[in-house]
Amino acid sequence: MKILNIVGARPNFMKINPIEKAMSRSSLEHVLVHTGQHYDERMSSTFFDELGIPRPQINLEVGSASHAVQVAEIMKRFEQTCLKEKPDMVLVVGDVNSTAACSLVASKLEIQVCHVEAGLRSRDRRMPEEINRLVTDVLSDLLLTTSPDADENLRAEGIPAEKIHFVGNTMIDSLVMQLEKAPEKESPKRFGVIPGEYAVLTLHRPSNVDDPAQLERILGIFAEIQNEVPIVFPMHPRTRNNLKTFGLDRKLSELKHIVITHPLSYLEFLDLYRQSRFVLTDSGGIQEETTYLKIPCITLRDNTERPVTVDVGTNYLTGTDPDTVLGVFREIMNGGGKSGRIPDLWDGHAAERIVEVLEKW
Ligand code: UD1
Repeated sequence: MKILNIVGARPNFMKINPIEKAMSRSSLEHVLVHTGQHYDERMSSTFFDELGIPRPQINLEVGSASHAVQVAEIMKRFEQTCLKEKPDMVLVVGDVNSTAACSLVASKLEIQVCHVEAGLRSRDRRMPEEINRLVTDVLSDLLLTTSPDADENLRAEGIPAEKIHFVGNTMIDSLVMQLEKAPEKESPKRFGVIPGEYAVLTLHRPSNVDDPAQLERILGIFAEIQNEVPIVFPMHPRTRNNLKTFGLDRKLSELKHIVITHPLSYLEFLDLYRQSRFVLTDSGGIQEETTYLKIPCITLRDNTERPVTVDVGTNYLTGTDPDTVLGVFREIMNGGGKSGRIPDLWDGHAAERIVEVLEKW
């Protein structure tokens, strides 16, 4: 069986990494295809180097554009790839534009689609990722899930049970692999903060950073928090561009206890958040990684497609109301936050289970 493994954007790389490795130990023929949705060294190639992912055999080099243009460009180029490579299956991960675009191409060419991280639902269709999840899942022949709530979502949408397999979380596989290899390093020192006495912030969701009033309101929250605990903020290019366009970059630079840095590599970031007091984020994957490491996480969103991180993990879903965020901040500072446990099958072996499912398929 020949499988095309698809990656496009930063959060895809750590999800495909263990799958590529497990497939290399199996009889499955696999080809890694990068759509080029993310292309900067710091958003892409550094992850391949650090995680030891082989270089993609095919790069479609689509780059950034509006959603429609980006998806259309991926589809045009990926159709040619499928015609040339003639795979039996296309395996997609996560919920980025590349995930949905490649699924659509494959299914129209009658190539089987396997979706890793299927069934997550925020029920917020203003999120581009939610649209990508819905489109991808409806087209998929094999739906591999990270948590039982995802299985329930898929069954409620009428997906036959035999297509759904609860395999665990490949992003956590990558984390487990790297934790074994990477002793704590000096990230806090590099940013002038003391282990256990700082917060880490990431922010890039369009709903938080594309509207000037919303972005300014959120900056007000960070202004309060940094008065009590320093914040290290690796900044996504979307956020950096918008702060500049909206003239908010100066306001941010006045906050003396926020350390701004470029997007970090996987190991630099891991080293930074694992030694932090808590994390502030609007990312999906970071909600999972902090749950695994039992670090309190304040999620600056009104909903999450990963409810298991709130129900059993250390995640708090606060939205962006200042009083709510600051209330949870105080709870963490005074009481340490929730204790949490690691969700089922987040054990470092999800990719092996995926290969087993594929071999039986
Ligand atoms: C994409 C994903 C999002 C994921 C995020 C992680 C979609 C719909 N969104 O959002 O789910 O959480 O990646 O980063 O697929 N840019 C660069 N260098 C790059 C890539 C992008 O500078 O290598 C800049 C460009 O100005 C671009 C902007 O970032 O226009 C946004 O990039 P894009 O891929 O459109 O979406 P993300 O916000 O990164």
